[in-house]
Amino acid sequence: MPNTHLRADRVEADLDRLLTAAGDELVVASNRQPYRHDYGDDGEVTVDRPAGGLTAGLDEVMRRVDGTWIAWGDGEADATVVDGDDTVTVPPDDAENTYALRRLWLDEDEVEGYYYEVANQVLWPLCHAALGTVESCGDAWADYRRVNDQFADAMADAATDADGDPLVWLHDYHLALAPRHLRERTGSDTGGRGDGPVDRTGGADPTLAHTWHIPWPSWDTFRACPNREALLDGLLGNDLLVFHVPRYCENFLRSADRGLDGTAVDFDAGTVDYRGRTTTVRAAPMGVPVDRIREQADSMEAAGFRAAFRKNRGIDRDTRLAVGVDRLDYTKGIVQRLDAFERLFEERPDYRGEVTFVQVGTESRSAIPAYADYQDRVEAAVDRVNDRFATDDWRPVVYTTEMISNEGLAGLYREADLAVVSPIRDGMNLVAQEFVAAGGDDPGVLVLSDQAGAHDTLGEWAVSVRPHDTEGFAAALDDALSMSERERRRRANALADGVEDDDLDSWLVDVLGAVARVASADGGVPTRADH
Ligand code: UDP
Ligand code: G6P
Repeated sequence: MPNTHLRADRVEADLDRLLTAAGDELVVASNRQPYRHDYGDDGEVTVDRPAGGLTAGLDEVMRRVDGTWIAWGDGEADATVVDGDDTVTVPPDDAENTYALRRLWLDEDEVEGYYYEVANQVLWPLCHAALGTVESCGDAWADYRRVNDQFADAMADAATDADGDPLVWLHDYHLALAPRHLRERTGSDTGGRGDGPVDRTGGADPTLAHTWHIPWPSWDTFRACPNREALLDGLLGNDLLVFHVPRYCENFLRSADRGLDGTAVDFDAGTVDYRGRTTTVRAAPMGVPVDRIREQADSMEAAGFRAAFRKNRGIDRDTRLAVGVDRLDYTKGIVQRLDAFERLFEERPDYRGEVTFVQVGTESRSAIPAYADYQDRVEAAVDRVNDRFATDDWRPVVYTTEMISNEGLAGLYREADLAVVSPIRDGMNLVAQEFVAAGGDDPGVLVLSDQAGAHDTLGEWAVSVRPHDTEGFAAALDDALSMSERERRRRANALADGVEDDDLDSWLVDVLGAVARVASADGGVPTRADH
């Protein structure tokens, strides 16, 4: 067993050192905010945490490094809780580890054009290689530009307020133009949009890093992107560009090479020279906060949730559980997963009454027809399997869209004999790692799609599936359910070691190490991300 205290102390020291080397202050920017304020039934202000891997992970990071997080304030009560600078101190439940959340306000047209159309109906499907789902950009592109401008303004303000030169860390596909726009505001860009460089940051010289949390597709797919030159030009305003796995880095370098005039790409060094600046491209797989998840899974609340969940859903104490936890997104492969369970129950009647598949689904982006349609398809598939096989005292599938607390979720992972994580395409997938982290004395089996970024690091010890191969998928479920205890423990231990070694702190050390390296003239800070 590793000494977790010693390890935590070492990581803490590494983080302090790297933060100092990476920048004098941390400014984070993402579309999605970590906390949303709304009004409850009685008109009181409530706060919740939007689902999604990016915010869950970064909130952990920000709790440890006092900084500013800039994001879209989309909650109904968001404006009532901020101060005169549109800022609120979070998290609400931890007075010792706070940071500033600065909210940006978008009007309805901007939300439609920037968030729903360009970000989620062009870039999201494009990067997940779902070309048939990509819509045309049209007028929405102007909204995307305008909102990226707003983010750049807010980042420039935060850079001005910072003591010294901050590290500005951007996230994801909503903000592809913002790095270039911010360069124009710092006066460090010589190729601005017409009127030359204007320094609006009072001389601050921020380092810009950008983590892309979704896949970067092959050039053959990316070339279908409308406005692809502008996207590449925007992203090459960064000093450092981080993807989860090396494959996405290679795809990006190829896209920069083929898709934009004036770039000089060094594939071996992983750099792009463009407009007088070098952008370094690195892979750093995001991890999960293993210690915190373990504590949650061990908690009384988790134990209570497990028992109540079985009782309230009519799941017998001895029935084995398989679990899936996803935003209701067409990339997650939930329909194919249900097809595989249907095939399993069809071919192996002995599993009927013995195994229940629990699917937790969180509503997501429902204003987009492809998402609303997907929710209907998931429900129809659940009904179909249940109609076919359910008996008076057993249901093959239990489906819930209820919001479950972190402790409840950790409890469910702990309770499960297997987790089924089978996206059609996924940048990383944190649920797979959360399941492993929550495993206790009697850990379960991870069934993992070979199309998830997480498969690059966990695939060897998971049971791999190809989501569209229903027959093979059903056989893999059978393998997982019938695995010997010895083999199950062997795999679970290896998975746990991997997830612990590459946890959220390690990811942070990786990314900050890479930032420190590009920010320093001698490049002296070693990092796993450079390997
Ligand atoms: N999540 C959640 N409730 C749900 C579904 C997901 O809290 O019903 C959380 C999950 O625990 C994980 C994140 O949302 O931390 C999903 O991250 P992942 O990388 O797996 O997928 P993403 O939603 O970011 O595409
Ligand atoms: C993925 C994206 C995040 C996004 C999350 C939830 O994890 O990489 O940027 O926040 O999905 O999606 P939403 O549209 O609700 O923010």
